[in-house]
Amino acid sequence: MNPAHYKDGELHVEGVPLSRIAAEIGTPCYVYSRAALTEAYLAFTAAFDGHPHLVCYAVKANSNLAILDLFSRLGSGFDIVSGGELERVIAAGGDPSKIVFSGVGKSEREIRSALEAGILCLNVESESELERIDRIAGELGTRAPVSLRVNPDVDAGTHPYIATGLNQSKFGIPYAAAPGLYDKARTLRHVRIDGIDCHIGSQLTELEPIAEALEKIRDLVERLARDGLTLKHIDVGGGIGIRYQNEAPPTIRDYARVVLGAFDTRKYKLLFEPGRMLVGNAGLLLTRIEYLKKGADRNFAIVDAAMNDLIRPALYEAWHDIQPVREGGRPDTYDIVGPVCETGDFLARGRRLAANEGDLLAIMSAGAYGMSMASNYNTRPRAAEVMVDDDQLYVVREREQVHDLIVREHRLPAR
Ligand code: LLP
Repeated sequence: MNPAHYKDGELHVEGVPLSRIAAEIGTPCYVYSRAALTEAYLAFTAAFDGHPHLVCYAVKANSNLAILDLFSRLGSGFDIVSGGELERVIAAGGDPSKIVFSGVGKSEREIRSALEAGILCLNVESESELERIDRIAGELGTRAPVSLRVNPDVDAGTHPYIATGLNQSKFGIPYAAAPGLYDKARTLRHVRIDGIDCHIGSQLTELEPIAEALEKIRDLVERLARDGLTLKHIDVGGGIGIRYQNEAPPTIRDYARVVLGAFDTRKYKLLFEPGRMLVGNAGLLLTRIEYLKKGADRNFAIVDAAMNDLIRPALYEAWHDIQPVREGGRPDTYDIVGPVCETGDFLARGRRLAANEGDLLAIMSAGAYGMSMASNYNTRPRAAEVMVDDDQLYVVREREQVHDLIVREHRLPAR
C-alpha cells in the first residue's frame, strides 16, 4: 500500500494534507502511516497463517517507540541488535519473550541484560560468543536459549554493503563449521540449543538466493536431527526487498511458498526478521525547497533535508522517488541536494520536477533505514517524526534542538 495520494492537487498521507504537517510540525519531518504499517504487518503474518510462526520485526529499520508499540499490539516480536534496542522494545511495551538478539559483537553487558529480560533467543555468531554466553548464563544461574546463525555462502544479489551471506562477510558461522559448533554447544551446561538462524542480506529482489540458502539450512537441520539434535525453531531472517523505483521484489505469498516448501512446519516453528518490508513504504520524508540554483552544468533544488536525515542515497546510491506536494507547474531537471557540506549530500539526481522556492517535496519510501540511520553531522538536529492515523496527526518524536546535541559536551577548565 502506498500511503500517499493526491487529493485536490495536493499530496496527502491518509486523510492529512502534507502542507498541514509542514505548517504544524515544520520540515524536515518523517511522516508514517498507521494504516500502511498495519497492513504490511498483517499481510506478512497472514501469508503464514496456519503455520506456527513469529514475526520478529527488525528494530533497526525504524526504532521509533510508536512503531514498536504498534507492531507489539499487533502481536509482533522483535529482532534486536543492541542493548539499546532491547531497552527501546521494553519501553514500547514489547514482550521480551518474543525478542531475538542478532549481531556479531554482543557485549557482556548486552548478553547479561538480554538474559535478565528473558528474551526468546540469542542468535550466536561465533564460537567465542557461544562461550561468553555460556559463562554469563552460568553466573546468572540460568540456561541461555540460543540458535546458531549460519552463513550459507550464497550471493544474495544485492548491494555489497548489505549482503551478509557470503563467505567474505563478517556474519554468521561458516556453513562447514556449523555442525562442529552445534556439537560443542551440546556440551555446554548453560546454553539450551533452540534453533538455527540465517540472514543473507537486505533489499533482496530475487527468490532464488533465498531458496538456495534455505535448502542448505534444511540439509543442516536434517543432519542435526539425524545426530539426535532436534531444533525447535528455524529463523529465516529478513531481507525481502520493496519497490523504490521499478524493482519487482517477490510478493509475500511467493516468499511464503518458498519458505513453506523448505521446512515442515509441523516440526519446526518459523521465525522471521523482516524490517524494510514492514516499514519502508509506510513512511516518507517531508522537506521544503530553500533555494533553486543554476549551476554551470546542472540545476539544483536545495532542500532543508540532507544526508544526515536520509543517508541511503549518499551511502548506497539508493534511489528514492521524489514527489511534489502540490501538483502542477513546468518541470525542469534537478539534483535534489541538502545543505550539508559534502558533494555526496544528495537525495536524488537528475529528476524531472516542477519546483519553486518554498515548495514542499516528499521523499518516498523513507520509512526504513531513514530516521534510524540519521545523524547530527554539521550539528543538524534530527528531524521530527509524525504518525498519521486517518485524519489524526501524532508527533511520535519531537524535533531535536541544538541544546540536545551539546548538553553532554564540556569546555575545558579555566587555567
Ligand atoms: N535480520 C538481520 C540479522 C539483519 O541484519 C537485518 C538487516 C534484518 C534482519 C532486516 O533486514 P530487512 O528485512 O530490513 O532487509 N541500511 C541498509 C539496510 C541494512 C540492513 C541490515 N540488516 C539500507 O538502508 O538499505
